[in-house]
Amino acid sequence: MRLTPEQLAQFDRDGYLFFPGLFTPQETAALNGAVPELYSRREAYNVREKGSDAVRTNFAAHMYSEPFARLARHPRMVEPVMDLFQEQVYMHQFKINGKMAFEGDVWQWHQDYGTWKNDDLMPTERAMNVAIFLDDVNAYNGPLMFIPGSHKRGVIDAKHDLTTTSYPLWTVDNDLIARLVERAGGKQGGIVSPQGPAGSMILFHSCLVHASASNLSPWNRVSVYLSLCAVSNHIRRARRPEYIAHRDFTPISCLPDDCLLRDYPVDVPWKNGVPPSALQTSDEPFADRKLAA
Ligand code: SIN
Ligand code: MN
Repeated sequence: MRLTPEQLAQFDRDGYLFFPGLFTPQETAALNGAVPELYSRREAYNVREKGSDAVRTNFAAHMYSEPFARLARHPRMVEPVMDLFQEQVYMHQFKINGKMAFEGDVWQWHQDYGTWKNDDLMPTERAMNVAIFLDDVNAYNGPLMFIPGSHKRGVIDAKHDLTTTSYPLWTVDNDLIARLVERAGGKQGGIVSPQGPAGSMILFHSCLVHASASNLSPWNRVSVYLSLCAVSNHIRRARRPEYIAHRDFTPISCLPDDCLLRDYPVDVPWKNGVPPSALQTSDEPFADRKLAA
């Protein structure tokens, strides 16, 4: 799937593109079906909500689950991002966010690139987020919210919030959010939240300011978030475990478009467990050898 000039202009202006119903119910069925078993695992890569057993985020399923390994190589998801960057991309981060019925907690206002820069030493913002809905998303089950055009501000000041939720995040303070929303149109479009059926996809800029409220509805809001980084822009430090910030910068090679419907062979290197090396972290930037990778 390639982007039209109109879509490229819209992405530049708003910082996101929404594709309702891009994947069919048949295509998302195998992904959906795999989630309960993945969430039931007592592994470090399943981060649970504060004070609850509900999974907030499952990391790196593409390394140990075949359906998700195929999604990670899907041309409908990867090609538009390569179009935007005019470069090959690798998988920087892969997560399945639960936002489970009654239990799903907030995601505070933030930019993803803030975390990638501060924690992972990613050199520039040439990395893209892709969200794929595995459940229908509506006004009640904690939809993602964006401030359109906020990516134009570049990297903005953030503080490391270690307490609000179970997952540390570099968050933007309320006064600045209020100003950004006002500038984006206030009550007329200053905040948007793309909603649609399971199988919908959003591409959003790594500097786009976003958040989501808690899910008090009886409907799960499981979504996959894939963060694709231009290969030349790979991270320079492994401060976080590899299941959160990947260290293999090999370009993604796409499978055929029907890869969610047929069992194409796919590599799942962590299917027997996460290797100890993936848990090693360091505050030191990579040695020159890695920089040249
Ligand atoms: C995120 O910002 O990474 C996740 C937000 C959400 O799942 O609502
Ligand atoms: Mn985010």
